[in-house]
Amino acid sequence: MDAVPLASGRDADVFAIDDRRVLRRYRHGGDVAAEAAVMAYVAGLGFPVPTVFQARGVDLVMERLDGRTMLSALLAGELDAAEAATCLVDLHRRLHALPSRLGAGDARVLHLDLHPDNVMLTSRGPVVIDWRNSTEGPAELDVALSAVILAQVAVGENHHLASPAATLLAAFLDRVGGDPLTELDRALAIRRDDPALTGGERELLGAAAALIVGHRRGREKTSTLGV
Ligand SMILES: Nc1ncnc2c1ncn2[C@@H]1O[C@H](COP(=O)(O)OP(=O)(O)O)[C@@H](O)[C@H]1O
Ligand SMILES: [Mg+2]
Repeated sequence: MDAVPLASGRDADVFAIDDRRVLRRYRHGGDVAAEAAVMAYVAGLGFPVPTVFQARGVDLVMERLDGRTMLSALLAGELDAAEAATCLVDLHRRLHALPSRLGAGDARVLHLDLHPDNVMLTSRGPVVIDWRNSTEGPAELDVALSAVILAQVAVGENHHLASPAATLLAAFLDRVGGDPLTELDRALAIRRDDPALTGGERELLGAAAALIVGHRRGREKTSTLGV
C-alpha cells in the first residue's frame, strides 16, 4: 500500500491515498458496513459527513477532509469554548432533526461519540467523522453521552485538558436543548461497557455524572430565581 499515514485515533489508523481520499483501517477488527450505511443515509439528507467511496471489512475509503479537528482548533486557540459548544449543540440539533432510517417509532439517528476530536472544521463547515457507535434512540442519549465524554476529561485530576473540557462542558450544557439528565444513566452504562476505555477512565464515571447533574441543577435553580 502506498498510502501515507495521516492520523491515528483509538481504534483506527487513517492514511492519505491521494489528495481526495483517505483510508481508515480498524486496528482490532470490526466491520465498517453499518457505519458506512448510516453515513450514506445522513449525507443524503444533507448532514455533513465525509463521502464514503468504499466500505469493506475493516477498511473505509472516504473523502479526505481539509482543516483540522475541533479539538486541535481549540488547543491552537483558533476557537473558544463558547464557539465549540455552539457548534456541537448545532450538530446534535441537525442530526436529531433527521427522520429515523430504521423507522422505529420516534427514534432518531444517534452518533454516540460526538466530541471535539470527532468533528473536523473544514472549508465546507464542520463535518462529523467516526460513526462506529452510531445507532438509533432518543436524542437526549446522544447529548448525555457527549456530556459524559467531556465530563470524564474535566474530572481527570492530572488530565492536561481538564480545565478546557470543564469550560466546554458548562457551555455545552448551558446551550443544549432538551433534558440530557433523562438519559444520563444509560449514557453512563454505554460508556462503562466501552472496551476502549481504560480502568482509570471508568473510575471517573461517578465524578463525571456528578459534575453534569450539578451543572444542570444549578442552571434550574438560576432560572427559577429568574436570574
Ligand atoms: N475523512 C477524513 N479526512 C481527513 N482526516 C481524517 C478523516 N477521518 C479521520 N481523519 C483523521 O483521523 C483521526 C482518527 O479518525 P477517527 O475516525 O476519529 O478514528 P478513531 O475511531 O480511531 O478515533 C481523526 O481525528 C482525524 O484527524
Ligand atoms: Mg475518533
